[in-house]
Amino acid sequence: MNAEKVLEKLEAKIHTQCMRLGERIPYIAENGKYQNDMRDVKLSWWTNGFWSGILWQMYQYTKDPIYRTAAEHTELEFDRILENFEVLHHDVGFLFLHTAVADYRLTGNPKSRTRGLHAANILAGRFNPSGNFIRAWNEDKTGWMIVDCLMNVPLLYWAEKELKDPRFGEIARRHTDTALQYLQRPDGSCNHIAVFDPVSGEPVEFPAGQGYKEGSSWSRGQAWAVYGFALGYRYTGRQEYLDAAKRTAHYFLANVAQTGFVSLLDFRAPAEPVYWDTSAAACAACGLLEIADAADESEKLFYRNSAEKMLEALAEKHCCWDVERDGILQNGSVAYEKQVHVPLIYGDYFFTEGILRLLGKEFMIW
Ligand code: GLY
Repeated sequence: MNAEKVLEKLEAKIHTQCMRLGERIPYIAENGKYQNDMRDVKLSWWTNGFWSGILWQMYQYTKDPIYRTAAEHTELEFDRILENFEVLHHDVGFLFLHTAVADYRLTGNPKSRTRGLHAANILAGRFNPSGNFIRAWNEDKTGWMIVDCLMNVPLLYWAEKELKDPRFGEIARRHTDTALQYLQRPDGSCNHIAVFDPVSGEPVEFPAGQGYKEGSSWSRGQAWAVYGFALGYRYTGRQEYLDAAKRTAHYFLANVAQTGFVSLLDFRAPAEPVYWDTSAAACAACGLLEIADAADESEKLFYRNSAEKMLEALAEKHCCWDVERDGILQNGSVAYEKQVHVPLIYGDYFFTEGILRLLGKEFMIW
């Protein structure tokens, strides 16, 4: 693949979208248009940091202030959800790593640092010490943990380093250990959800989540595990986390090798109807590049080439490059039989990160 050429097209499209969107926060493009502004729909929605993440990636790559200004708007909007923190949830990592923490890392803005630390405290406050997990969602789901949350814990590693306070890292490591024990299965596939008794911390059940059914294999959940465990290795150096990332990566690759290196929505769903989820492939590709960075010299090429194959398949078959239409990566899916084959903002984020990363031009946002 000519990744430079893909990056040129990405830049042209993101620039036009940025001009068109102004201060709005996008999620799913419908008929080539971001009809909704997520500030009006639900400001605390878990995906609302990804556009800002794309903007900070482009800002660090181009230094064009248009991206920075647009990203700063989302960060300021998020003050309303930090203040009213009961609307927040386990996905504060996705929300604040891509906004305040990215801003702080790139510009040193002290207010952004405070926002990021505030979010890290909210995440740490969700830890259940009986079961050693960060609880997912709100209301009655007191004993739930989900595989997605592996991507939120880098916020805790950041806070640990920033404050020189090991409590944050301890929570991140214990949560990752629990994910290793209860979410990853021996064959490398993963449960989406584990439910524990919130008092005793004993495991109770592993219900179906966004995949086909209980015991199936929701591909985005597998992608969260590939990248999430690999990031756990980045911040702790623990070999068991890298090994876990590789196990799920090998399982993911064995599956996509049968479908042209693009992921089906669930690797264990009936053959018909065919549902794709390109966002899973984009995220897994970033995870493979993370593993390539960590792996021994003899293995690096395998993980890098695998990531490139997936990004190439996405670029060739699933991207819309028409700058008049919103949304880049097509055929993302939210959940089994729910909002399938749509352009998702996080698909665009991971695709952008992946292409930049292939070229060594990325900003480490996690
Ligand atoms: N974190 C929710 C999802 O992956 O859809």
